[in-house]
Amino acid sequence: MSEETKASIPPEKLVRVTFLPEGRTVEFEFGTMPYQHHGKPMSFLDVAENHDVFLDHACGGVCACTTCHLWIKDQQGISEADDDELDRMDMAADQQLNSRLGCQAVITRPGDYVVEIPKWNRNYVSEGKPLTLAEEK
Ligand code: FES
Repeated sequence: MSEETKASIPPEKLVRVTFLPEGRTVEFEFGTMPYQHHGKPMSFLDVAENHDVFLDHACGGVCACTTCHLWIKDQQGISEADDDELDRMDMAADQQLNSRLGCQAVITRPGDYVVEIPKWNRNYVSEGKPLTLAEEK
């Protein structure tokens, strides 16, 4: 497991996000992360883009695809899904109770967060080729 720690972050302001299955953990001070204009500010896609973690986002983070689909281990501290996200999630593969769109689920307070990138998105990374949902079984 790799970890990027910023020693100067006060514990009460620390945000720690672990991306599975890589097990890569990134840390930053709540309220200080620059907005990368991918998804909502402080969304998991925004965090990923800020820390060079690959999270596919075919539509650019505007809730118009499902390629940023994540499973969030504990929903505490995460924004509620709005109607647009819920409608879009209906089209997602491998949907689970803890499924969210990485570009829409926003971290609202400091804390520890663990998210998992589903298999079909991981395959895209490891094979280095465009996503083809037709291959899903
Ligand atoms: S990147 Fe398309 S819905 Fe999130």
